[in-house]
Amino acid sequence: MQRMEINAVTQKVKHPQKVAVAIVQIEPDKFNSITLEWFMRTSIDPVMFAISIGHTRFSYKCLQENRVFNLCLPSLELVEFTRLSGTKSGAEIDKLKTIESNWFKGRYAGLPILKDAAANFECEVITQVESGDHTIYVGKVKYAWIGEAKPLTVAELF
Ligand SMILES: Cc1cc2nc3c(=O)[nH]c(=O)nc-3n(C[C@H](O)[C@H](O)[C@H](O)COP(=O)(O)O)c2cc1C
Repeated sequence: MQRMEINAVTQKVKHPQKVAVAIVQIEPDKFNSITLEWFMRTSIDPVMFAISIGHTRFSYKCLQENRVFNLCLPSLELVEFTRLSGTKSGAEIDKLKTIESNWFKGRYAGLPILKDAAANFECEVITQVESGDHTIYVGKVKYAWIGEAKPLTVAELF
């Protein structure tokens, strides 16, 4: 056991880790996507998930204004979209447009359900907490959708 710089230790132990894409609402019928490594289940009953969103992200602005998100676990089919969602900002491009025919509107707030995802969870934001340069949004799951494919890991992404 040796002491090491904090970030170096977190990098060394982070894999394997599932990657997620959160879909957020810009305005009615306009959506954005953000790739996430920092997400977790936080409650058994009701089922809840937390997502951690950097304050510089366009998605942060969306979540401050519209208290809903879909947490999607992408499959290999969505690798390009997941890369795009993690490297480009919704302030500059319409990321959902690149998978136009591959989503349909969810039941809760009409946010996109990704057809090729391993799973999709429609969430209502019920609370949030600031965590340094990120804010953690806790979402209560309203509806859940399952696909056939297996979830993508961060290691498979790049
Ligand atoms: C593998 C991977 C994991 C990421 N995890 C997070 C995360 O947990 N939280 C976050 O705020 N940004 C994360 N990012 C960065 C955002 O996805 C990225 O900055 C994105 O372009 C922001 O999009 P937006 O400006 O449209 O919100 C991650 C990026 C990648 C590639």
